[in-house]
Amino acid sequence: MKKNLVLISTILMVACSAKIIMPSQADVERANVKFPGISLSDLNEGKIKFEQNCGSCHSLNESYHESEKGLRRIMPEMAQKAKIDAKAEDQILKYLITMNSAPKK
Ligand code: HEC
Repeated sequence: MKKNLVLISTILMVACSAKIIMPSQADVERANVKFPGISLSDLNEGKIKFEQNCGSCHSLNESYHESEKGLRRIMPEMAQKAKIDAKAEDQILKYLITMNSAPKK
């Protein structure tokens, strides 16, 4: 029984994370215009922390639709809800702003 639960939650995690956009080198280059010095691993950490801390309440791709202004306004409140530290808040915010400004395919 326990084994099944682990299996099911693993499948769910994989299925949900598939919706999340992985940062690419092109994203890093775009991000550097706004956030000089930001690296691919910074964006990846933002992505992972977003999945870990925000996914319990949000379907994980809806936050992409928020404007930069909207994200910056709501983020302090969301950081409180998710009980994350300032570093995680900053990484998630930069990840979301960057992925949000990706050219539409
Ligand atoms: C405990 C549940 C909870 C957690 C955890 C949480 N949120 Fe939210 N979030 C909400 C609720 C409820 C709203 C509706 C508006 C409000 O409360 O101001 C919201 C609103 C938002 C919005 C505005 C657009 C929308 O979807 O309505 C964004 C963007 C957002 N959250 C991002 C995040 C991010 C990023 C994180 C992780 C750091 C996060 N949230 C963590 C519950 C949560």
